[in-house]
Amino acid sequence: MFIIWIDDKHSIGIPEIDEQHKQLFILTNQIYDESQKEVKDRNLIPVLKRIYSYTNYHFSSEEGMFKKYGYAKYLSHISKHREFTQRLKVYLQDYRDKPNYTLDEPLDFMVDWIVTHIQGEDRVYADYFKAQGINPSIHFNSSDKSTKESITEALSIWEKKKLQIENYTLDHQHKELVYIMQQIKDLQKASSDRARMFLPSIIQKLFYYSQYHFSYEEELMAKHNFENILEHRELHQGFILRIQDFAREYNLEKETLNTEMLQFLKEWVLTHILDEDMKYKELLKD
Ligand SMILES: [Fe+2]
Ligand SMILES: [Fe+2]
Ligand SMILES: [Fe+2]
Ligand SMILES: [Fe+2]
Repeated sequence: MFIIWIDDKHSIGIPEIDEQHKQLFILTNQIYDESQKEVKDRNLIPVLKRIYSYTNYHFSSEEGMFKKYGYAKYLSHISKHREFTQRLKVYLQDYRDKPNYTLDEPLDFMVDWIVTHIQGEDRVYADYFKAQGINPSIHFNSSDKSTKESITEALSIWEKKKLQIENYTLDHQHKELVYIMQQIKDLQKASSDRARMFLPSIIQKLFYYSQYHFSYEEELMAKHNFENILEHRELHQGFILRIQDFAREYNLEKETLNTEMLQFLKEWVLTHILDEDMKYKELLKD
């Protein structure tokens, strides 16, 4: 292990954010694991891609929260996030061009950036919220519902629909996807101003989290020689493209929310887990 999470040192006191930061530590350690392998045995591209999607998901969570509570240093914080993802893109390209490229630099950069950013800028916003008496949550819901109620509802959908794969990590990731869907559903019921304000962050979270999840799921399917992997990968790709289309349309600031697309997003995750992911259940369960 290369970097170790120490609560006293790294926690910023917002449990949902701490969880995501812990995950960033885990992913950084995966680059280290790859760097310890012989060049011919390395499989770094999927690791870097996952870090890219997870970091973007994490940044969307933080940025959505800044918007939600009107954090004043919003813009300078966002520009730090963008610098990071740009740099990650360069490393990804460098590695694609030269697979035997040394991993010391990206690794040092990741560790340094993550730790410095968490203990610096992230701690600043956490302290700011605390001083304002705000107990922040990264989640969105209709104004008549608490985050806890919203999470409970999502979990009961997950149980009622019998979405369990019996693989701990995949189940955890599917729950997060169902929960993001729940937030989309909640926002549809909220006032149009509120929906307009928060929907882009949620769509962004859905976009990056599904990329992160698909990459993990596909790697596991490949490792276990799942026979329908190509077909399955195409379904994932199709979903990502639809979200991109939707985000593009939404960026044009259409007058009304596209209900057909919202319906599609809400249904897709449930239907995909039930009809497609279940096909690998026997193979991938713990
Ligand atoms: Fe962060
Ligand atoms: Fe941040
Ligand atoms: Fe899945
Ligand atoms: Fe899938």
